[in-house]
Amino acid sequence: MLELQWANPNDVEAILDLMEEYHRQEGLRGHARSRLKGVLEMLFEQRNRGRVAVARDAGELLGYALVVRRPSFEWASDLAVLDEIFVRGKARDRGLGRRMINFVEEYAASEGLPAITLQVASQNVAAMGFYRAVGFSKVDREIFARPVTGPR
Ligand SMILES: CC(C)(COP(=O)(O)OP(=O)(O)OC[C@H]1O[C@@H](n2cnc3c(N)ncnc32)[C@H](O)[C@@H]1OP(=O)(O)O)[C@@H](O)C(=O)NCCC(=O)NCCS
Repeated sequence: MLELQWANPNDVEAILDLMEEYHRQEGLRGHARSRLKGVLEMLFEQRNRGRVAVARDAGELLGYALVVRRPSFEWASDLAVLDEIFVRGKARDRGLGRRMINFVEEYAASEGLPAITLQVASQNVAAMGFYRAVGFSKVDREIFARPVTGPR
């Protein structure tokens, strides 16, 4: 039976496998597994920083949603930030992504967080279709970033 749960430290290796599959598929920068593992383990040690929801079917992980918290002065509150969501190819289009979003929303509601925000690559039109279908809408913002190399 398919269940949604918060991941526990025993899930780290299976989550890393899914994460690597996702990053490879999306052509994202491949970080060393040990570094990703460090970030995941930090989340298990500091529960108030974020959590990983997993979809488990007969012991196998079929997907994960990584949600972190950040303070926002715009909202005068912490927000839930959906950092990553991934469903294994064979398990897609069966409502799992929607269930994981609902799971994250229940968490946000129970913690009194007023909104869930996320970023999506401009070319990831499929993910945008999914987000719209599960209740997100685009806000009028552009995301900027720069690598930190020292003061300029
Ligand atoms: C995005 C993703 C998590 C969706 O998971 P999923 O389990 O296939 O989604 P669901 O089956 O729960 O779909 C939920 C709703 O989204 C809609 N949806 C899903 N993919 C869609 C698409 N490409 N275009 C339009 N709508 C879409 C579904 O039709 C469904 O709507 P409905 O309930 O009204 O019928 C999954 O496709 C995935 O892992 N993609 C690769 C990783 C990725 O791009 N993540 C987001 C990066 S920011």
